[in-house]
Amino acid sequence: MKAFPQTFYWGGATAANQVEGAFLEDGKGLSTSDVQPHGVFGDVVERMPGDTGLKDIAIDFYHRYPDDIALFAEMGFNCLRVSIAWTRIFPNGDDAEPSEAGLAFYDKLFDEMAKHHITPLVTLSHYEMPWALVKNYGGWGNRKVIGFFERYARTVFERYKGKVKLWLTFNEINMSLHAPMTGVGLPSDSSKAEVYQAIHHQLVASALAVKACHEIVPEGKIGNMLLGGLMYPLSCKPEDVFKTLQENRGWQFFGDVQARGAYPGYMLRYFRDNGFALEMTDADRDALKSTVDFISFSYYMTGCVTADEALNQKARGNILNMVPNPHLESSEWGWQIDPLGLRTLLNVLWDRYQKPLFIVENGLGAKDKVEADGSINDDYRISYLNDHLVQAREAIEDGVELMGFTSWGPIDLVSASKAELSKRYGFIYVDRHDDGTGTLARSKKKSFDWYKEVIATNGASLKA
Ligand code: BG6
Repeated sequence: MKAFPQTFYWGGATAANQVEGAFLEDGKGLSTSDVQPHGVFGDVVERMPGDTGLKDIAIDFYHRYPDDIALFAEMGFNCLRVSIAWTRIFPNGDDAEPSEAGLAFYDKLFDEMAKHHITPLVTLSHYEMPWALVKNYGGWGNRKVIGFFERYARTVFERYKGKVKLWLTFNEINMSLHAPMTGVGLPSDSSKAEVYQAIHHQLVASALAVKACHEIVPEGKIGNMLLGGLMYPLSCKPEDVFKTLQENRGWQFFGDVQARGAYPGYMLRYFRDNGFALEMTDADRDALKSTVDFISFSYYMTGCVTADEALNQKARGNILNMVPNPHLESSEWGWQIDPLGLRTLLNVLWDRYQKPLFIVENGLGAKDKVEADGSINDDYRISYLNDHLVQAREAIEDGVELMGFTSWGPIDLVSASKAELSKRYGFIYVDRHDDGTGTLARSKKKSFDWYKEVIATNGASLKA
């Protein structure tokens, strides 16, 4: 009988800037997310008095978390991924002291989870950093930011060491290559060399956080977080196959450094070939040796790679400029749905790192229709998640050590790429819309009971 381990973590995943709202409450500072009202690929818009954005209130999780957590508990969650907003703890990033109000909020949040026996999985930095660190220091381009981040990480490890045992460093750390402001606080027209230098600083900071976590929370575990951007060759032409290897290394590089503790040779060659002279000290190289305990990743889709420039030109402008796969269907947002790709990716990561894996994001963003009686029949979401979970179970059969599955957006939230509310992922509907209207009331979708059953049966109710 194929099965998930008895210790499996089942739950959902969120991020502070997409759910909390209360963007300036209790002394919180502005973050990069607060000045990107059009999403992670959008321009920075300096805030003017009176400006409002969807993320300012988001789904008001900051005030409604007890009710939301009760609903997660009703579904049977034993794990919830949240992120701490760095700007609630250090509003400007370089403040002399952390903010007690910010620290107290997460104390309450973790206590609420504990009440329901929900294990927190906490991301230190999910697509945001203090805006003041960008304005005053140049974001991650400045080496000083490593120290600010380490201090922030040590502060939250010390404060929550009795409550939080599972940590992640940077969300989708490889996204900086596509969205430099979101990832490393650099303008979108930064050169590749500047972006890689900033990434280097962030990788060092990630490793220092791993070291600090091991010191302060010895019984805890800390992982990295990759956007699992698995690519297939569009054809069996050797040029396509080799280019695919390179494209996959584009994201695997981050995992290689974080899990193996040093830059891989192929990356050093890439820097040499492109004339990038990265500043990398012996102390940096030493710091990188602190490697993660497990590998976490998001998985939504796969894409194809071709050496044919004409086809590549046609794909420009797609999400991450991926060439579409003619064998796959797409979501309403053009994300290609590929459950088997998840099994492949799990096997690739397991073969490469031999460290436990954790699927910390997966789900379907779709427009939901509220029927006259208030019901929401999201069979498409059920089918997407069912098929991905079936493949995750197959990967476990293949020998992959999988710690858990937290579906993205268990409650509707503001999407990251375009900051929309019409792109919904939740089992729980939130009455709020792209134009900012709505009561913020919560209601259960059909998938709510479906996921509840999956968790209650530890996956036995899935349809293979
Ligand atoms: C991941 C991010 O990229 O995908 C999340 O870690 C994001 O923050 C999720 O929300 C889905 O993307 P989107 O653009 O549909 O919200």
